[in-house]
Amino acid sequence: MEKIKVNLKKTEDKSYEIIIGEGILKQIPLDLKKENLAHSYAIITDSKVASLYGEELLEEFKRADLKTHLISFPAGEEHKNRETKTGLEDEMLKRKMGRDSAVVALGGGVVGDVAGFVSATYNRGIPFVQVPTTVVACVDSSIGGKTAVDTPHGKNLIGSFHQPWRVYIDIETLRTLAEKEIREGLAEVIKYGVIKDETFFEFLEKNITHVFSFDSDVLTHIIKRSCQIKGEVVELDEMESNLRKILNFGHTIGHAIENLSDYKIFHGQAISMGMVAEGKIALEMGLWKKVEFDRLVSLLKKTGLHTKFPDYFDVSLIIDTMKLDKKTRGGKIEMVLPKNLGAMAEIDGSYGIKIEEGLLSRILNSD
Ligand SMILES: NC(=O)c1ccc[n+]([C@@H]2O[C@H](COP(=O)([O-])OP(=O)(O)OC[C@H]3O[C@@H](n4cnc5c(N)ncnc54)[C@H](O)[C@@H]3O)[C@@H](O)[C@H]2O)c1
Ligand SMILES: [Zn+2]
Repeated sequence: MEKIKVNLKKTEDKSYEIIIGEGILKQIPLDLKKENLAHSYAIITDSKVASLYGEELLEEFKRADLKTHLISFPAGEEHKNRETKTGLEDEMLKRKMGRDSAVVALGGGVVGDVAGFVSATYNRGIPFVQVPTTVVACVDSSIGGKTAVDTPHGKNLIGSFHQPWRVYIDIETLRTLAEKEIREGLAEVIKYGVIKDETFFEFLEKNITHVFSFDSDVLTHIIKRSCQIKGEVVELDEMESNLRKILNFGHTIGHAIENLSDYKIFHGQAISMGMVAEGKIALEMGLWKKVEFDRLVSLLKKTGLHTKFPDYFDVSLIIDTMKLDKKTRGGKIEMVLPKNLGAMAEIDGSYGIKIEEGLLSRILNSD
């Protein structure tokens, strides 16, 4: 018998910069040109962002003399699917884009997730640049390298880890967002304060409402600190073996709420309710303090986020739905729970804490 070892133990530097500023969209093509990232570019965006910023960005690429195609798909989560991915790939293939090309994902989380996944598998992987244009995308989906599409069996079930080459956040692009969209992202921002940074939580208590009047200093600080926190967590645990789980605060129950509402309750609102319910569990288990929990509830309310399940909601189905979630382990429901504002509880070296069904049911059925 002969044995040959294929030695693949290598270290790869996948570090990237997140650049935040006002009006920086224009600078992207020249930056990429200077770094010689690729020979041709596909700006992938959705139908709404294409007319808001896509055409403009394409012009800038052309001005920089870069071979670039603008490819868009219809806006909306319902288009974050395998058909859209195939369609985008076919467009790129038709344009004879090769391994020396790169993708620029311009838009919200839907665009980032699909375009990221396209670039992860196109020609076995090409670089991609994230240009997030929603608060959710700026503070969450553009960082961390999770890319995916939805299937009829569930959300984000087909995807891969593919880190962006760089992230450009142009605060100016957020001006065209509806208040409702901004609020969605702020739920994640508040989550960052709870899981990692009490000082940031205090900043939010004082300043969060200024975001709605587009105070660019406040907005820049909020986005910068959120990116730092997500970046730090991902840096330490890229593949979610333990620490990265803390990003799921509010999400175990939140996902079940989204799912049961047939996605009529949006993600930010669902995780807001999820953070409150999971916070109550932390109180009940003696892990967290009531005064801090009350501060979380006040901040969520101040931001215009829901803190209670709607009346029509069938709470009894939440536990069954949670059991089907990716975050369940061996049928046991796991959650991450706060122990202080800025720090999450660890039990036996793990942030994923198993929750007894009896306790869960009691909390979910209490008002
Ligand atoms: N990969 C990750 O780690 C991660 C993390 C969080 C969320 N996500 C994913 O992100 C998605 C949600 O992202 P989203 O909330 O950004 O949704 P989205 O991408 O659907 O954007 C929401 C709406 O805003 C529009 N829009 C985008 N930018 C705009 C702008 N500047 N002005 C006006 N309108 C604009 C879009 O066309 C869309 O209609 C979900 O699919 C979710 O699964 C992924
Ligand atoms: Zn989330």
